[in-house]
Amino acid sequence: MKLLVTAASTVALLFGSAALFAQDKPGDAKKGEETFEQCKVCHNADSTEKKMGPGLKGLFTHEKMANDKKPTEENVLAKINEGGNGMPAYNEMLSDDEKKDLLAYLKTL
Ligand code: HEC
Repeated sequence: MKLLVTAASTVALLFGSAALFAQDKPGDAKKGEETFEQCKVCHNADSTEKKMGPGLKGLFTHEKMANDKKPTEENVLAKINEGGNGMPAYNEMLSDDEKKDLLAYLKTL
């Protein structure tokens, strides 16, 4: 029994530190660019010209997004997760890491 408890807490510890690492890991813009391939059907990355959705060049410098919210990291992530108004919801379709990488990429536009 004692062994079992030790094993369980070791596993918990491992998972705990993995989660910590994931949190510390900065987004990878290069990987984000690959993930953005699937967004390109609807979004320009190199202009603000509208395709299906708004062009995302300079997104984080825009006054506000189409939904009237400021383009903060939190609001942009919420838009990606929830979609709406013609934008698909990516909450279940992308992993947390992929979303983090996407945000890092969007910041370079
Ligand atoms: C089927 C077309 C479509 C796809 C695919 C799509 N989007 Fe969108 N997106 C839209 C539309 C339409 C809007 C405008 C929604 C609104 O009016 O609030 C939007 C809005 C946005 C916004 C807010 C921009 C602004 O200025 O309002 C962001 C950021 C965004 N999308 C990112 C993404 C990312 C990242 C992906 C890929 C993971 C993606 N979108 C895939 C159609 C799409």
